[in-house]
Amino acid sequence: MEYKRILVTAALPYANGPVHIGHLAGCYLPADIYVRYQRAQKRDVQFVCGSDEHGVPITIRAMKEGVTPQDVVDKYNAIIKESFAEMGISFDIFSRTSSPVHHSTAQAFFKKLYDDGAFETKETEQYFDEEKKVYLADRYIIGTCPVCSNANAYGDQCEKCGSTLSPEQLINPRSALSNAPLVKRTTTHWYFPLNQYEDFLKEWIVVGKKDEWKSNVYGQCKSWLDSGLQSRAMTRDSNWGVPVPIEGSEGKVLYVWFDAPIGYISATKELTPHWADYWQQEDTKLVHFIGKDNIVFHCIIFPAMLKAHGGFVLPDNVPANEFLNIEGEKVSTSRNWAVWVHEYLKDFPEQQDILRYVLCANAPETKDNDFTWKDFQTRNNSELVDKFGNFVNRVMVLMHKLCGAKVPQWHAAIADEKDAQLIAEIKLSKVKIEQSIESYKFRDALFELIELSRKGNVYLQEKAPWKEASGIEKGALSPEEKNLAQQCIDNCLYLALQLTANLAILANPFLPFTAKKMCHLLKVVERMLDWENAGKIDLLKIGYSLRIPELLFRKIEDSEIEAQMIKLKAGLVASTQSQSTPSVAEEKETELLKAEITIDDFTKIDLRTGTILSAQKVEKADKLLQLEIDLGFENRTVLSGIAQHFSPEEVVGKQVVVVANLASRKMRGIESKGMILMVENADGKLEFVLPQNAVNNGAMVK
Ligand code: 2FM
Ligand code: ZN
Repeated sequence: MEYKRILVTAALPYANGPVHIGHLAGCYLPADIYVRYQRAQKRDVQFVCGSDEHGVPITIRAMKEGVTPQDVVDKYNAIIKESFAEMGISFDIFSRTSSPVHHSTAQAFFKKLYDDGAFETKETEQYFDEEKKVYLADRYIIGTCPVCSNANAYGDQCEKCGSTLSPEQLINPRSALSNAPLVKRTTTHWYFPLNQYEDFLKEWIVVGKKDEWKSNVYGQCKSWLDSGLQSRAMTRDSNWGVPVPIEGSEGKVLYVWFDAPIGYISATKELTPHWADYWQQEDTKLVHFIGKDNIVFHCIIFPAMLKAHGGFVLPDNVPANEFLNIEGEKVSTSRNWAVWVHEYLKDFPEQQDILRYVLCANAPETKDNDFTWKDFQTRNNSELVDKFGNFVNRVMVLMHKLCGAKVPQWHAAIADEKDAQLIAEIKLSKVKIEQSIESYKFRDALFELIELSRKGNVYLQEKAPWKEASGIEKGALSPEEKNLAQQCIDNCLYLALQLTANLAILANPFLPFTAKKMCHLLKVVERMLDWENAGKIDLLKIGYSLRIPELLFRKIEDSEIEAQMIKLKAGLVASTQSQSTPSVAEEKETELLKAEITIDDFTKIDLRTGTILSAQKVEKADKLLQLEIDLGFENRTVLSGIAQHFSPEEVVGKQVVVVANLASRKMRGIESKGMILMVENADGKLEFVLPQNAVNNGAMVK
């Protein structure tokens, strides 16, 4: 289909904390690169986002801090908005779901579905905290674990013994908010029967999008659809959120995941009076950039809502990224294991493009990836500084020295094979970058950009115009020879300068601050960055004088990296010390369950008990312990990523549960045959999943 306009959305971040680099890498940076590229193509594109200001975690945070939910969202909306703006995330609008336009839009949407009979109503019993006057989600209920007697087990899980629980199973359930005992109350809610949309979704996704969507996105959708969809409550008992627009529904609000995606529509409404074109005209290309934990909401629930409502376009694509870990560990906001964007901006002023570069070069596009400060330093120093920056700087310096600070002449008569090859490379890079961006492969696109600058360096090295210059300087050349030598110098720098201009255009979506600096150096207006100019080799006019060279990037020193590592670890210690027990773990709306599996899927896993006979550290792998485990019928070598939680001495003699039929895997030259089960407690520390009393090794866990 020929699209006339593009609407790009980036997941609305919860306004209950600042944004970290995992957020940036997950969706905001790829979305921004895509949009900047589309703008440079002069296409009709709008980029909408805003903060997601409803939901339980925000009310909990407000209670904990003794302020109102409005105070919480006002504070974080401002912090988030500023971080994005400073990082150059170029939204056309950054709105908020507490805005009046959003409330009325979300209410009208709900009312239409309600009037059309799209909801089912159900009565359920739910725990109620009489002191705080709120209904509690399972995570906010604590009590004694019926399995191991841990007094602080959660309503969904005991973090001590790993048992999955429901609030009913807890002994003496009480509120995690007030410690008050709980009462049960009957409550009515509106459910959206997703099962009725299964056929539509299968046709649209499985038949229509299989080859277009990224495999991680398609795979998750397919597994949800294969397991069968169920009705979901679209309302909650709360006084914070969009009130349910139906008489007699006081004290009820829309479920945050019902109202949040409608936030994209409301933000577009606030942005332009032509909002309906972007949402209701078939020839709009709607693209949702999100993180992987949002896939089901954007690919299944929201499209089903749009379908039920009618009249809206569905997303053409939902390019979701996986997660970015930090130094080998999952980001945890509650444990402060994160690199916060506002802090990065303070510690590395004016260095936005380094972070943009590293997060894109290492983006978790197909699998979870790891951010390390060492890699940040290496990529900056050896790619941005040594390749890209070095090329541009050499060209500028040489042009000043050898061409009188002006764009030299082009002498077509003496152009050679190397010149032709460089021109071809420039044109080819444009095409490759374009294709990669259009297919959401931003890492490949960025790699191509750096490759082009590397080729520029090789070209300079091979042409070596300084050699011709020294020949001229020595004064031993005839006038003809001198003329020819100067023509060679001119051609080399003419092309190198045109390549520099091309690099600015091609870098602009990724490194907008750098592209701007390059325009300044080349004394061109930013209109030169229009995509149609890429691939041209007459962008800088002959005889035009350019500015004196300035470095585009600076080296990152070891001391800066060490300081960041200390900061990261200190944040973790501080957060552990300040945490009261029991804590309300990660401040997320709901922990998403993985897609349902059948009993057959489960019985494929052979879980056995075993005893750790010996343990040792693995060379050059900070996280791994090599364990010898007695499984009763045989001894096994298992590599386990627990070295940062346990010393070898601590684990010897422990009984563990082993996934005994896991395919073996070689790591650091050692073959690992199996995996041991661990559970993360509220402080992020790992605990062994253990039988309550000692059992024989090799016993089956059922
Ligand atoms: O996961 C999150 O951070 C959610 N606040 C994303 C919402 S995206 C959209 F639907 F609004
Ligand atoms: Zn327990």
